[in-house]
Amino acid sequence: MVTQITTSDAERKMLSDAGYADPAIDYYIEKKYMGHIVDADQVSEKVGSCGDIMKVYLKIDDNKLINDVRYEITGCAGAISAAMAAVDLAKGKTIDNALKITDGDVFNVLKNIPEKKHHCIQLAVKTMHKGIQEFKTENGL
Ligand code: FES
Repeated sequence: MVTQITTSDAERKMLSDAGYADPAIDYYIEKKYMGHIVDADQVSEKVGSCGDIMKVYLKIDDNKLINDVRYEITGCAGAISAAMAAVDLAKGKTIDNALKITDGDVFNVLKNIPEKKHHCIQLAVKTMHKGIQEFKTENGL
């Protein structure tokens, strides 16, 4: 019997061998919040210390509630899974509560990613926070 190995099986194994836990791998493979929001209320960009780039799109209701978030990412698997997890944490929160989301909160959702990828979580969180701060400043909040 021939077992067919799909690309995502191969990716899963590679990431698992590298130290990514299953939730982190799911976020990376599904990439459910990758892309942009056409009528975003805020678009902000941040470059990480590694040179990777993240752009965040925020849809905010009543100047207050995070309705939707999308990321465009030129970066690694850690960056992608961290950003996707950060969106799940932020959706439905007020902007002020989303500013309280920490790297540790994202790590807890991911369960584990390699230690040398922890700065990627930082980039995901900082990019979102930058977007919220810029939104607040531009709207006098
Ligand atoms: Fe740059 Fe992961 S190595 S964000």
